[in-house]
Amino acid sequence: MNDNAGKAEWHGARLDFKESMSYGDYLGLDQILSAQHPLSPNHNEMLFIVQHQTSELWIKLMLHELQAVRRHIREDNLPPAFKMLARVARIMDQLVHAWDVLATMTPPEYTAIRPYLGASSGFQSFQYRELEFILGNKNPNLLAVHAKAPEHHAILEQELEAPSVYDEAVMLLARRGFPIAAERLQADWTQPTRPDASVQAAWLGVYGDTEHHWALYELAEKLVDLETAFRFWRFRHVSTVERIIGFKTGTGGTSGASYLRKMLDVVLFPELFALRTEL
Ligand code: HEM
Repeated sequence: MNDNAGKAEWHGARLDFKESMSYGDYLGLDQILSAQHPLSPNHNEMLFIVQHQTSELWIKLMLHELQAVRRHIREDNLPPAFKMLARVARIMDQLVHAWDVLATMTPPEYTAIRPYLGASSGFQSFQYRELEFILGNKNPNLLAVHAKAPEHHAILEQELEAPSVYDEAVMLLARRGFPIAAERLQADWTQPTRPDASVQAAWLGVYGDTEHHWALYELAEKLVDLETAFRFWRFRHVSTVERIIGFKTGTGGTSGASYLRKMLDVVLFPELFALRTEL
């Protein structure tokens, strides 16, 4: 006979959670797991929903990390920023691999769902837009997409007007004694990052004497890691889209794959790539 018979435990684990917080309570699993509402009768719509929802959760974490990264750079406190930037790059890598799961969806499977999606599109993801903005790919015109949701609009407007993570890195270069052009330090933050000769010269100085500028060198390489992972994500998105919908227009109304191909030309941290030609 089991000595534990009748006791509310199993191998030391509690079995009774009437009085205390459980796993599901802590994680809000009732809300998360009841948020999948397929609209079509098609089996594959669940994959489509879960893939988008999990991507949004990871984007939420990336934003949380990047906001802290920006704060730490502003406060000249680089070690925690390095740790967080490494985490963001790994999250992005993971999202790159997540496309393999979605790629198991075939064109006929997507076509069965497509009429139920209406005009909904990742293009309307406010978190994704915030991610682009905090990394410096600003575009004031895209705020209009969020006019229907004032709280999202307000978050994006605030992010549009704030210096990006990279702008903070450029300001740090100036604080560390590198001569950065005044126009760059007082740039209109609502505009996308523009290449600047003084910033490139500063990074060249860092890469030219890594021993003396190790922390800035490490910051630069962490940013390059992140941008590289982001580029892979964009590439896997457009490749998966071509595989599934070919060259049809998107549910959001753009030209579809050709719009996404243009996004492959986005460069987030221009000088960090341009300087490599000089090394
Ligand atoms: C079968 C799957 C998918 C298809 C066919 C698809 C297709 C497209 C298309 C055609 C666009 C361009 C905008 C439009 O006209 O709609 C777009 C944008 C976008 N999609 Fe997807 N997508 C898929 C999956 C995903 C997933 C899983 C995510 C993850 C969050 C995602 C996030 C985005 C984002 C953020 C944009 C805006 C990109 C930008 O403006 O640079 N998509 N998608």
